[in-house]
Amino acid sequence: MKFTSCFSNCFSSASETAIIDIGGREAEGENDQNFTVFSYSELKVATHGFSASNKIGEGAFGSVYKGLLRNGSIVAVKMLSVEPESMRGEREFVSEITTLTKLKHENLVTLKGCCVNGANRFLVYNYMENNSLAQILLGGETNGIKLGWEARRAISLGVARGLAYLHEEVEPHIVHRDIKASNILLDQNLMPKVSDFGLSRIFRDNASHISTHVAGTLGYLAPEYAISGRLTRKIDVYSFGVLLLEIISGQTVVNFDLEHGERYLVQKAWEIYRANSILQLVDPTVGMNYPEEEAIRFIKVGLLCVQETAGLRPEMSKALKMLTNDIDIEGVQISQPGLVADLMNIKLGQKTTFPSLSSKVSSLESTHSPLSSYS
Ligand SMILES: Nc1ncnc2c1ncn2[C@@H]1O[C@H](COP(=O)(O)OP(=O)(O)OP(=O)(O)O)[C@@H](O)[C@H]1O
Ligand SMILES: [Mg+2]
Repeated sequence: MKFTSCFSNCFSSASETAIIDIGGREAEGENDQNFTVFSYSELKVATHGFSASNKIGEGAFGSVYKGLLRNGSIVAVKMLSVEPESMRGEREFVSEITTLTKLKHENLVTLKGCCVNGANRFLVYNYMENNSLAQILLGGETNGIKLGWEARRAISLGVARGLAYLHEEVEPHIVHRDIKASNILLDQNLMPKVSDFGLSRIFRDNASHISTHVAGTLGYLAPEYAISGRLTRKIDVYSFGVLLLEIISGQTVVNFDLEHGERYLVQKAWEIYRANSILQLVDPTVGMNYPEEEAIRFIKVGLLCVQETAGLRPEMSKALKMLTNDIDIEGVQISQPGLVADLMNIKLGQKTTFPSLSSKVSSLESTHSPLSSYS
C-alpha cells in the first residue's frame, strides 16, 4: 500500500477498507475494480481544456465539466481546488473516494476515477444525461423536460432505495448528510442517482455521533442536527422528506411571494395538510390524471420524514414501504414538522448571519443556541 503524503492522514481516518495508490493506475476497494487514476493531460484533453462550453455545473467546491475519454465514454469531471492553508476541499475529495469506491447500487452515482494535479483534485463520474433533479424539477421551462406523476414516483422510490441501502445495507452504515435536489442526478431514463458523498460520515456503531461541525445545506437540515450537531441517519430522513415534498410540489425549499413573503415548503405542506386540502400541494404541471390516493400518501410520508422529533421519522426502508403502500399509514398520526427557520443564531465561521437559505454549510459551527422550530 502506498499513499502520497497529503492523503495518508485523511485516508487512515476516513476509511478502513479502501486502498488507493494515487501515484499509480490502480485502486482497490470492495467494488472498485474499474477505478482509474487519470493523468491531468488526459482529463484536459477530454474536457477541451476545461472549456466554458464543456462546463455543466458549479457547486460550492468547484466546477463540473463534461468530458469524452479516449475510450469513447462520456464523463463528468468535477474539479476541486484545495486551499493549501486550510486544506478545505481535501477532506471532501478523500471522503468521496473512500465512500464511493466501496458502494455499488443502481441509485448511487458511479465514481470512475480521480486525478491529483498540484492544488487541484478531480473526480470523474459517469455522465448523467439529464443533469440533476434541481435542474429538471425546478429549472422551469429551460430544461424542456416535464415530469409526470410516474417519473416523480420512480425518482422518489429510487432515492429512497439508495438511502435505505446506505443506511441499512452497507456496513458500517453511511449518513449522506447532504441530500438535496442538486445532489440527485438523473440518467437518460430519469433513473435517480444519489451523488456527492464528500460530506458523508461512516458510522462504525449504532451510537449517535455528536459532530463538532454541522454540514449540509440549509433548508434540508434537520433541526436537531443544526442545533446540537447530533448526527444520526434520521438527518438524511429529514432531508429526504424535504426532497419528497419538492418532487411532488415542484417547489423549492423556500419560496418568496408578495402575499406571504418568505415561505418554507415544509411549513406550507403542514398548513395545507392541516386544512385538509393536501392535493393543493401537487405540482399543477403533473396534469389532472394522477393517482390522488398515492399523491396524498407521498405527501404524508414527506411530512412524516420531516417530523420535529427525530424518533417519529421512519427509517428509510420503512419510508420506502410506506411509499409503496406495503406499510399502511392510514392511522399514523402526523405531528408538527421541525424547521430551521431562524438563521440568526447560527454562526458560520466569523459571520453571524446567513446569505441565502440554499447556502452550503460546510464549516458551520454549532452554537447550541436555540433555533426556532416551526410551530
Ligand atoms: N455526473 C454528473 N453528470 C451530469 N451532471 C453532473 C454530474 N455531477 C454533477 N453534475 C452537475 O453539476 C452540478 C454541480 O455539482 P456539484 O455537486 O459540484 O454542486 P451542487 O450539488 O450543485 O452544489 P453543492 O456544492 O452545494 O453540493 C450539479 O448540480 C449537476 O447539475
Ligand atoms: Mg452536488
